[in-house]
Amino acid sequence: METIAFFNLKGGVGKTTSAVNIAWHAANEGIPTLIWDLDPQGAASWLLKSKVKTKHEPKRFLSGKTPVGELVKPTDYENLDIIPAGFSYRNFEQQLMELSSQGKKT
Ligand SMILES: Nc1ncnc2c1ncn2[C@@H]1O[C@H](COP(=O)(O)OP(=O)(O)O)[C@@H](O)[C@H]1O
Ligand SMILES: [Mg+2]
Repeated sequence: METIAFFNLKGGVGKTTSAVNIAWHAANEGIPTLIWDLDPQGAASWLLKSKVKTKHEPKRFLSGKTPVGELVKPTDYENLDIIPAGFSYRNFEQQLMELSSQGKKT
């Protein structure tokens, strides 16, 4: 499995657009592709017309309580699935940092 992440502290530089386009091209080539929308604003979910309103708490899959696979939803495009964003992702970076510092203590 290949993972591609787009990260830039600046907004409006094309991260979401690039992620969605590259995911679509991969899917169009026949590669089963999952796009995980980590932005609480949900622009990638909107671009892919995902109507699923997600309420999952990132804390639950970070702790292993919710298997990530349960969050995967189909899109209108063949080979392209999505984990849609939700407002609960607003604290996701903080939660990842906490998890990472817990790992350092053990
Ligand atoms: N290659 C591009 N050429 C022209 N406009 C682009 C390009 N990539 C993105 N945009 C536009 O720039 C704006 C910001 O893009 P977006 O992907 O939402 O940025 P980010 O996710 O980094 O905040 C959007 O209006 C998008 O349509
Ligand atoms: Mg974006």
